[in-house]
Amino acid sequence: MEMSKQFDVVVIGGGPGGYIAAIRAAQLGFNTACIDEWKNAKNGPAPGGTCTNVGCIPSKALLQSSEHYEHAGHAFADHGIEVKGLGLNLGQMLARKDSVVKQNNEGILYLFKKNKVTFFHGRGSFVKGDASAYEIKVAGAAEETITAKHIILATGSNPRALPGTPFDEKLILSNTGALAIDAVPAKLGVIGAGVIGLEMGSVWRRLGSDVSVLEALPTFLGAVDEQIAKEASKLFTKQGLKVSLGVKIGAITAGKNDVTVEYVDAAGAAQKAVYDKLIVSIGRIPNTIGLNAEGVGLQLDERGFIAVDGDCKTNLPNVWAVGDVVRGPMLAHKAEEEGVAVAERIAGQHGHVNFNTIPWVIYTSPEIAWVGKTEQQLKADGVAYKAGTFPFLANGRARALGDTSGMVKFLADAKTDEILGVHIVGPMASELISEAVVAMEFRASAEDIARICHAHPSLSEATKEAALAVDKRSLNF
Ligand code: FAD
Ligand code: NAI
Repeated sequence: MEMSKQFDVVVIGGGPGGYIAAIRAAQLGFNTACIDEWKNAKNGPAPGGTCTNVGCIPSKALLQSSEHYEHAGHAFADHGIEVKGLGLNLGQMLARKDSVVKQNNEGILYLFKKNKVTFFHGRGSFVKGDASAYEIKVAGAAEETITAKHIILATGSNPRALPGTPFDEKLILSNTGALAIDAVPAKLGVIGAGVIGLEMGSVWRRLGSDVSVLEALPTFLGAVDEQIAKEASKLFTKQGLKVSLGVKIGAITAGKNDVTVEYVDAAGAAQKAVYDKLIVSIGRIPNTIGLNAEGVGLQLDERGFIAVDGDCKTNLPNVWAVGDVVRGPMLAHKAEEEGVAVAERIAGQHGHVNFNTIPWVIYTSPEIAWVGKTEQQLKADGVAYKAGTFPFLANGRARALGDTSGMVKFLADAKTDEILGVHIVGPMASELISEAVVAMEFRASAEDIARICHAHPSLSEATKEAALAVDKRSLNF
């Protein structure tokens, strides 16, 4: 049977923004296609984008494996579990990570089939078009042209390289290489103490590397609530992660088997460090390569992102853009929410994304998670607020788990008591933050959470207790 070449909606990019937009569009009754060029090791399709292939999923797989290894090494003894002859089979660890990725790639292909989304494996680019229809070339194993009235661009982002220091993925690694190092490096350098630097630095430190992180800014995790960032910094230092702030990176020279980084430290002294591998994680840049954006007059902003309005509309009629390739946080769940909202807007519905309730999580140990405003933002905005904190040290479940590091912190409006921000550093912060997101989405007060029954013993009681602490009446601290 010949495949239809005319669609209602064509999505370019099959990452979390694109594949979710395609599924939602198909659910809404549109004849939908999704084009993605990512290739697996056998040159076959590997939809899921950065997140599935070299981001969220493989990093969490390695974070989990490396945490098991570290726990088996010292945390189990306290529970009376003796582990003898502990060994690391890094090949197996990496193979497991690859198989987790593969399951996710296959899951997306299955979802496309289930929802009747037509998948094209190849690069999509604009040929021409106007409000009535756009022609898109798909360059894959074969070349073909498809048309659609509505186009959703979800082409994601690429790692930013240091000027003059391209990634070779052997010694100088982006996230792709950092997830596939085949022998634990004795000395690992990381440039950039952001989310990737801390997560990947944690993985390799747990597996035995001596990890040094070099950060340009003078403050650690500047976007995180200061109290939480300070607590996290203390805990990471105790684990042996060395973070140098306020450095200025100079020359980087790749040798045969190592990399030399010259930099000026915060005190102004010239330093030279030699690493077996160097991860460069200094942010990501939007990916519009190969779209032929210029050919159809698609506007980019001054930083190279596809310019969109609050509804993800571009300057071209019926062309939308979502995810990492547009403004806003570079997070998979933000991309997904925008994808759903755009599909619903195409259907004439009122898709909605609330940027104030997008949660952030850093999957270190302990995890760091937050939603809403930080204390420093509230101060800068002149908002009168009340704060309440509760340490996991005083939580029964955390003690039973043997993981009592960190705290939950609530920030609420001084007059109305509406929750303005929740910040967590501690065990399972990634799961605990959801309660705060729901509460903020419903515009709950701290008192609402304080009066809701939470299961005992559970880590979520720390959330309730922090809400009680806003009114200075926590019960267990
Ligand atoms: P992408 O996932 O980048 O997908 C874009 C897709 O489009 C790719 O498959 C690309 O090949 C394809 N493409 C591009 N151009 C074309 C074209 N012209 N034709 C066809 N296909 C094209 N976020 C979280 O929320 N949680 C996490 O835990 C997390 N961990 C991360 C860990 C790492 C190491 C990294 C690097 C990122 C992580 N992120 C995480 C961020 C997350 O991966 C991104 O925010 C997310 O992938 C963005 O989704 P997207 O759909 O916009 O783009
Ligand atoms: P990032 O923006 O989180 O951190 C980059 C860090 O590098 C910053 O602290 C910055 O000050 C520093 N930096 C920039 N230039 C520098 C230089 N020349 N020298 C030294 N330091 C420098 O970016 P990162 O870690 O690359 O991650 C990219 C994005 O991917 C994140 O912002 C996030 O959106 C996403 N991500 C999300 C994850 C999650 O949700 N758990 C995990 C990993 C990535």
